[in-house]
Amino acid sequence: MQPATERRSHGHRWMSGSEVRRAFIEFFEERGHKEIASSSLVPHNDPTVLLTTAGMQQMTPYFLGLETPPAVRMASVQKCFRTVDIDEVGDESHCTFFFMLGNFSVGDYFKSDSLRWSWEFLTEVLGLPAERLYPTVHPSDEDAYRIWKDEIGVPEERIGKLSDNWWGPVGPTGPNGPDSEIYFDLGPEAGEFGEGPGESTRFLEIWNNVFMEFFQAPDGSRTPLPKQNVDTGMGLERLTAMLQGVSSIYD
Ligand code: SER
Repeated sequence: MQPATERRSHGHRWMSGSEVRRAFIEFFEERGHKEIASSSLVPHNDPTVLLTTAGMQQMTPYFLGLETPPAVRMASVQKCFRTVDIDEVGDESHCTFFFMLGNFSVGDYFKSDSLRWSWEFLTEVLGLPAERLYPTVHPSDEDAYRIWKDEIGVPEERIGKLSDNWWGPVGPTGPNGPDSEIYFDLGPEAGEFGEGPGESTRFLEIWNNVFMEFFQAPDGSRTPLPKQNVDTGMGLERLTAMLQGVSSIYD
């Protein structure tokens, strides 16, 4: 391994995977979150999926108002297994098994705090250069767009609108809502700017903030959840690759 002083990083400094997970949990603990353990890869009491695919899965009964959560603000490092991306597994950024860093609000804070904290963690704690971060929102989500532009101060030309910025439900039924994905610009060597984040290989999605507001019934109809909730997810391996200045999670 190279000495720390010679290692490259896109952030303040080279960080190991364990340092990244600790920094994430401590940041959210300082903001009133309770750290919760990763749930089992085999979901408990959830017939909609075979394996756990996201940190929010153990939150489902809380988002639906069926059970009381251990805290209204929680953070976790969740073991995840995904097969929906199977055709992309083996490229530079997709795994079947990975760890997801996530912070959650059950009817407590909503879009403004969540997006501001994401930005603060990426730019101030990790030191990723703000000018290489590109937030995106769902075209219908004027609040999230306004928060990025007016509260956080991201220039309008760097805020994208993507119609697939909607997350969930995982199976045929469950919580879902508009999301806001944050992309990192890997630079011209990773591809053309093209249509921008979400469309070009030059941009890597690193964090997704989901605003869980709806319940989808098996017939596809959506109704508002009892409360507005937040579910975020950031792949530990992708983020660590950024912080180690390498372009592939396998590096
Ligand atoms: N549930 C969202 C995702 O998996 C955010 O955690 O991307």
